[in-house]
Amino acid sequence: MITLIKGGEVVNPRLGTVEKKDLLIENGMVSRLLSKGESGEASEVSKTIDAAGKVIVPGLVDIHTHLREPGHEYKETIASGAMAAVAGGYSAIACMPNTSPPNDCRSVTEFIIEQSKRAGRARVYPIATISKGQKGESLVDFCELAAAGAVGVSDDGFPVVNSELMRRALEYARYCGLAVISHCEDPNLSKGGVMHEGEISTRIGLPGVSGASEDIFVYREISLARLTGCPVHIAHVSTGVSVELIRRAKEEGLPVTAETAPHYFTLDHGLLAEYDTRYKVNPPLRTPKDVSQIRKGLAEGVIDVIATDHAPHDSLEKEVEFDKAAFGMIGLQTALSLTLDLVREGFMTLPDAISKLSSNGAAILGVPGGELKEGENADVAIIDMESEYCFKEKDILSKSRNSPFLGRMMKGRCDLTMVGGKIVYQRNV
Ligand code: DOR
Repeated sequence: MITLIKGGEVVNPRLGTVEKKDLLIENGMVSRLLSKGESGEASEVSKTIDAAGKVIVPGLVDIHTHLREPGHEYKETIASGAMAAVAGGYSAIACMPNTSPPNDCRSVTEFIIEQSKRAGRARVYPIATISKGQKGESLVDFCELAAAGAVGVSDDGFPVVNSELMRRALEYARYCGLAVISHCEDPNLSKGGVMHEGEISTRIGLPGVSGASEDIFVYREISLARLTGCPVHIAHVSTGVSVELIRRAKEEGLPVTAETAPHYFTLDHGLLAEYDTRYKVNPPLRTPKDVSQIRKGLAEGVIDVIATDHAPHDSLEKEVEFDKAAFGMIGLQTALSLTLDLVREGFMTLPDAISKLSSNGAAILGVPGGELKEGENADVAIIDMESEYCFKEKDILSKSRNSPFLGRMMKGRCDLTMVGGKIVYQRNV
C-alpha cells in the first residue's frame, strides 16, 4: 500500500526548513519526498491525503507523560493516554514510572510495552525509576530495564535526594545507554507547600514552595554532570534562576539538557488567587518574571524541549480543598496549540517549535522520530495552523478532565496523526 500526502508544507526541524513537498509512504516508512515538479508513480498510489494549506510535521514526541496504568486506571490507561496523545499530534510518548507499582522492574516495563501495542495508537516508551520503589535508597537494575525496553530513568514525582546515589545513577545510566531525567526539588524546602512561595501565597494564606527548592537541585545536577561527564536532563523547569544556571552549564559545554511545559510559559501564580485546584501543579506556577525568563530560555535555545508533563487526575482528587488536591494537569491535547502561540508571538520559528516538540526530545531519549526523511518511520502529523477553536470538555480524550485551559480560545491544531504509516487519528473536519 502506497499513501501520498499531497500539497502541504513539510517542516524539517533538524534542517530548520519549511518546504512545499509531497510525501510518499510505503510499508510504514517514508519512501520519497517529492519537491515541486517531481511526481510519484501515480498509478501505484492507493490512498491520497490532501494536505493543501496544511503543515506536515514529524509526529511529535513527548518526553514526559504520566499514564496511570498499572494501578490507577480510573485516571488514565495506557490506551486512553495514547489516544489523547495522537489527538494532540504525538506519535510517541515516554511515560513516567510513578505508577502503582512503580516501573522499577522488568515485568512492569514489558507490561507497558505490551499494553501500548494492544492500544495501537502512539508509540509508548517506558521510563523506569532510578531507585527501587522511588524511595531514593538503592538503584534499580538499569541494564536489565534497558534490555526490557526502557529508554530512560527518572524518579519523577520525587527528587533523588541522595547526591551520591544520583552520581551513581548518572554513571550507570550512561553505561546502559539510558537517559536520566531529574525532578529537581529540595523536599525539605518544599515540604507542605502547595503553590509558589511569594506575594500571592502570603495574601491567600497557602503554604509556599520557593523557587530555591528547584534551583538548588538544578545546580546539584549540573555539578554532577561536571564531575562525571555524564548527561543529565532537567525536567519541568519553572524558574528563571534555573534557566540561567542551565544557560551557564551549556556555555561551559556540560552535557545538560532541559525541558519546560506549556503551563510554565503560559500561566503564573496570580491564577491561584481563586483557589482553583486546576492550577495546582508541581513545580508550581511561578511569577510573571519567571514566565518571561522561561520564554526567553526557549527562544534562545537554553531550554531544549517542550514536554507536556501530562498528569491526569480524577475529579475525586481535584475537586477538594486546595491543600488536599493532587498536583498536576493534563496537557497532551493542548501543548501544540500553546506552543504555536509562541511562534505567532515571534519567540521562535515554526521549525524551532517543532524541534522542541519532537526531534530534541527524541534525541535525548535516543529514540527514532523527529524527522521526515526517506527511510524513516512514517510518523507524521498534519497541522491546520489557522484552525481556531475553544478547548472544551467534549474534546478531551484523556480519562481525566483536569485542564486549566478549558474554555480557552486556541489557534492551530492537529488534523491527522500517522504512526508507522497507519492513520491513528483523524479530526472530523
Ligand atoms: O504536578 C505534578 N504531577 N508533578 C509531578 O512531578 C508529578 C505529577 C503527577 O504524577 O501527577
